[in-house]
Amino acid sequence: MTRKVLCIVGTRPEAIKMAPVINALKAEKNIECRVLATAQHRGLLDQILKGFAINADLDLDIMRPNQSLAALTSRLLRELDGVLQAEKPDVVLAQGDTTTVMSAALACFYLRIPFGHVEAGLRTGDLYNPFPEEANRVIAGKLARWHFAPTQGAVANLLGEGVAASDITLTGNTVIDALLMTAAQDSALTVPLDAHRRMVLVTCHRRENFGEPFQDICQALKCLAERNPDIQILYPVHPNPNVKDVAHQLLGRTPNIILCAPLDYAPFVAAIKRSYLIISDSGGVQEEAPALGKPVLVLRTETERPEAVDLGVVKLVGANRDTIVEQAQHLLDDPEAYQGMARGVSPYGDGRAATRIADVLRQHLQS
Ligand code: UD1
Ligand code: UDP
Repeated sequence: MTRKVLCIVGTRPEAIKMAPVINALKAEKNIECRVLATAQHRGLLDQILKGFAINADLDLDIMRPNQSLAALTSRLLRELDGVLQAEKPDVVLAQGDTTTVMSAALACFYLRIPFGHVEAGLRTGDLYNPFPEEANRVIAGKLARWHFAPTQGAVANLLGEGVAASDITLTGNTVIDALLMTAAQDSALTVPLDAHRRMVLVTCHRRENFGEPFQDICQALKCLAERNPDIQILYPVHPNPNVKDVAHQLLGRTPNIILCAPLDYAPFVAAIKRSYLIISDSGGVQEEAPALGKPVLVLRTETERPEAVDLGVVKLVGANRDTIVEQAQHLLDDPEAYQGMARGVSPYGDGRAATRIADVLRQHLQS
């Protein structure tokens, strides 16, 4: 008998991290895999789904300009309730810690539909940091039937919260599946760069950095660019207006800072490969860069991804202007310090996470 699995995606990282899972489920002969886009992100989500040749079967078109968390959540819950009742999936899967994921878990709970949480068990222990993601993943985790944990540390977090070991599977992070598949294609970086200059790749979008911290981050980037004419900073700017407007205002006129629109995934992976150093507050980039041997300075004071920090290939530098400049300058000037962080390790996965998730669901749906 064919059983229905509904994969829900809302934002850019969810699409990247669910693409390998969707592909693995579509290859299962007794599973009908359907894709629901909430479109919490409109442009960024479409960009990634297109890159992975995934067509959403259903689309809620939720995004509004500069959306508030409460308005986003209430629209998501209302729309998800209707579509879940019409679709009647046997299982729902969602990935990570966005408002889409938290709302999907809650909507499934109300309808008693079993929910599988991909990238389960990440925790900082501080509900306000990152905000609102820590609360989102705690809620999704509390309501999940299956917990697909990327690392041993994530498994330990879940066990510590009382989740039964039989409900947890250590899978690795599906982002490494997507990364390895994409890196093997060796796509071109679509932004022209000077061949002789080192490139520093930047991304930044977290809500807790909005306002003064983000202005400090921009000042640090400007200072680094001015002090080091031998580098180019490539910064694909997130479309969130709290980021985009400020970035263009503060960095738009510095000649060796290149601001560009968000890159498709394959060119972005090419940018990671081409980079010398990465400065970012992104969760996904913290996982990808170590696997490609690139040091990351993380624009946060804590992380739910401690494994690469413990290995010494990712460093937390916060949003303080002077600290960011000092730490980046150190890596630009000191080859030994740089080599220590550019080792090429992959604590987040081996590229086979999606297969492990499909195995668990196949066994459950056959029984
Ligand atoms: C969201 C997630 C965050 C995740 C990030 C990945 C929540 C609350 N936040 O943050 O966890 O790390 O995505 O990027 O779930 N916008 C566009 N076009 C797009 C996407 C966004 O214009 O394609 C603008 C819109 O004005 C939108 C705003 O960005 O209202 C904020 O989007 P939202 O999804 O609420 O938050 P992000 O900061 O993108
Ligand atoms: N990414 C991309 N194009 C870009 C910037 C990032 O494809 O221009 C990818 C990146 O490789 C990673 C993901 O987007 O897989 C991270 O998304 P984001 O930083 O928006 O969210 P987070 O991971 O912090 O939740």
